[in-house]
Amino acid sequence: MQRVCVSDFEEEARKVLPKAVYDYYRSGADEQKTLADNVAAFDRWYLVPRVLRDVSTVDLTVSVLGQKLSMPLCVAATAMQRMAHPEGETATAKACKTVGTGMMLSSWATSTIEEVMSAMTTSLGSGGVLWLQLYIYKDRELTLSLVRRAEKVGYKAIFVTVDTPYLGKRLDDVRNHFKMPPHLSMSNFSTASLAFSEGNYGNDSGLAVYVANAIDPSICWDDITWLKKHTHLPVIVKGILNAEDAVKAVSYGVSGILVSNHGARQLDGVSATLDALEEVVRAVQGRCEVYVDGGVRRGTDILKALALGAKAVFIGRPVLWGLACQGEQGVTELLELLKDELRLAMALSGNQHKGHLLCRTIFADPQTQT
Ligand code: FNR
Repeated sequence: MQRVCVSDFEEEARKVLPKAVYDYYRSGADEQKTLADNVAAFDRWYLVPRVLRDVSTVDLTVSVLGQKLSMPLCVAATAMQRMAHPEGETATAKACKTVGTGMMLSSWATSTIEEVMSAMTTSLGSGGVLWLQLYIYKDRELTLSLVRRAEKVGYKAIFVTVDTPYLGKRLDDVRNHFKMPPHLSMSNFSTASLAFSEGNYGNDSGLAVYVANAIDPSICWDDITWLKKHTHLPVIVKGILNAEDAVKAVSYGVSGILVSNHGARQLDGVSATLDALEEVVRAVQGRCEVYVDGGVRRGTDILKALALGAKAVFIGRPVLWGLACQGEQGVTELLELLKDELRLAMALSGNQHKGHLLCRTIFADPQTQT
C-alpha cells in the first residue's frame, strides 16, 4: 500500500514487527497521558497563513551547532534499531546522508559508533551529520570511552540524556518481560551485562533492570562540567522541560538544549514538549540553541515548533516505522515525506525561509487556554 503520511508507516510497521518489539517502540510510561498529549499539543495551535508573499522558492536549510543541514528536521536517538531491520542504525545513517540531515546515535545502539560513521561516510549523498547520545554510566571511564570513540571518528556533538536516572515504567515492557532478541546486543559494549544480552532479567522489563544496574542515578549539574572538561565537542542536554533547568543549563555552558520528555517514556504526567518549548525559549534568550522532540508527525507540526522558537525538531518513533517498513529506503522515504510536508506548509503559510517565520504565524486556541 502507498505510504502517504507518517501514520501509514506506523500501521505497516505494526503489522511486520513482533509484538514485544512494536510495544517497546510505541509505548510511553504508565498511563501514557503524556504520550497522547505530546501529539495533541500540536492541535492546540493554529497556523496563520500570510498571502501574496512569493513562495515560488522555499529554503529549508538550517545550521545546527554550526553544521549546515538540508532541513530543520533531525533524527533523535532511539535504541536497538536492528530489532526493526537487520541493518538498523547503519540504514538510518545512510538515509540521513541521502536527505542531508543529522542523526543522533543512541548509546544503546545495536551497531557500533564506528560502524555507523563508516556507513554514513561511505554512502552516497552530500549531507549528513552524526551526534552521539550519551547515557552517563556508573562506570565513568566506560562513559568517557564512548565519548572518545565518537570524537575519534568524527561525531560532531554529545547529547547527554538527563531524564533517565531510572527507566520510566512502561507497562507493556513489564508485561512482555522485554529483552533484546538473542542475536542482538548493545554493540558498543563488550560484556554481556553492559551489552544487555544476559539471559534472564526476571519478571520486570529487562531494560529497567539494566538501567538500574548500569546507569548512574546520582548524576547532577556538576557532571555537565565533568563532561565538558573531558570533550572538545559541543554538549547538549537532552530532556529539559522548564525555564529553571534551562537557565541552569545555560549557566553550565551547554551549547544546546533539547526540550524533550523522552517521547513520554519517563515521567508520565509531565507537560507536552511543545507546551514547554516557549517557556524554555524565553528563558534561554538566545544564549544557546533550543530544539524540541516528541509527537512530531506532520510538516505542520514542524512548522509550529519552529514558529515557537525551536532551531530544529527531532523525531524518534517515525524513523523506527520507516526502518521496519523498508530499511534505509523506508527511512529515506519517511524523511523526504516530512520534508515535502514542511516545504508545503512553509509555502502555504507564506514563508520562504524559517528566518522569516512570523511570531504571529500561530496563536493558541483560546478555548483551550486557561
Ligand atoms: C527513545 N528515546 C531515547 N532517548 C535517548 O536519549 N536514548 C535512547 O536510547 C532512546 N531510546 C529510545 C527508544 C525508543 C523506542 C523511543 C521511542 C525513544 C527518546 C527519543 O530520543 C526521543 O526523545 C523521542 O522518541 C521523541 O519522541 P517521538 O518522536 O518518538 O514522539
